[in-house]
Amino acid sequence: MAIPLQSLLSDHKRYQKSSQLYDERSSENQSMQDFINNLLPDILASTVIGKSHLNVISVGSGSGVQDLNLLSMLHLKNPVMEVHNEVVEPNPTQIHSFKDLVSQTPDLDYINFNWNSISAEEFEEQWKENKMTKKFDIIHMFQVLYFVKDPEATISFFHSLLNKNGKLLISLLPDGSSWGKLYDMCSNRLILANHVDLTIDDVKSYLDLEGLSYETYILPRQVDITQCFIEGDENGDLVLDFLVHAIHFSKSVSSELKTEFMEFLRTECCDEANGKVLYNSDFEMIVIDKLK
Ligand SMILES: C[S@@+](CC[C@H](N)C(=O)[O-])C[C@H]1O[C@@H](n2cnc3c(N)ncnc32)[C@H](O)[C@@H]1O
Repeated sequence: MAIPLQSLLSDHKRYQKSSQLYDERSSENQSMQDFINNLLPDILASTVIGKSHLNVISVGSGSGVQDLNLLSMLHLKNPVMEVHNEVVEPNPTQIHSFKDLVSQTPDLDYINFNWNSISAEEFEEQWKENKMTKKFDIIHMFQVLYFVKDPEATISFFHSLLNKNGKLLISLLPDGSSWGKLYDMCSNRLILANHVDLTIDDVKSYLDLEGLSYETYILPRQVDITQCFIEGDENGDLVLDFLVHAIHFSKSVSSELKTEFMEFLRTECCDEANGKVLYNSDFEMIVIDKLK
């Protein structure tokens, strides 16, 4: 019988530590920064041109690094534009880090933050209860849809909040990713929490069905997971927990399954160079339009 593993999302502090260690070892932030600086200005041109005020929602913002990168780029392109940013993040430890980052970053007077320490689903519920009619220009959910109860409903709701020419940005893994291979490898023996099997291709199928227009972009990512292969290494175990989004993965599975899992991870999902084990995990960005 498959063993259920406890979701990493249920332990806010461990999530925070795991994601921080993962970020330090991953090229994801650099890839996102390149995408934001090099491609996003043109992608968002019709959304921001001529605007003196921009409304943004960030769903599952985490510690806010990507939010500030995106907002800084917009400010650089249009220094007189003011921004209202709704932050929707259910983990209070992450919101705390985001607020710390804001307080340590100079010259953010052009942004007015509204902090919502709730999930995307709770935000939707409150929005509908309060019969809110406000519209937004940019809504993003980077690496978040795995965790919502009904990804299609979440896309549909947030897309409905866009202004004309607004954009909804979603990043997720593509079909056939290393993460997908890992989950497939252990899926009949472990029950991993959340929609770990959701891919950008599922989102594309949904958007095609709804007749929504979109563009996609592949973003490269490698993560140095060398420490995960050192038995008993605390930081290695935390990074491993982030990879599977489960708490104490190493201690929760049998030693046979752990050995098989680590071998599969190393041989099927990684490259090795200069004594480092590098996990390959490109991801994809989808930009959805609101044409009318
Ligand atoms: C992988 S992190 C991504 C963080 C950030 N967007 C980034 O790209 O760096 C996923 C984030 O989604 C948040 N999250 C989990 N369930 C959520 C939900 N139902 N609604 C909104 N956010 C959620 C988590 O707390 C976490 O901060």
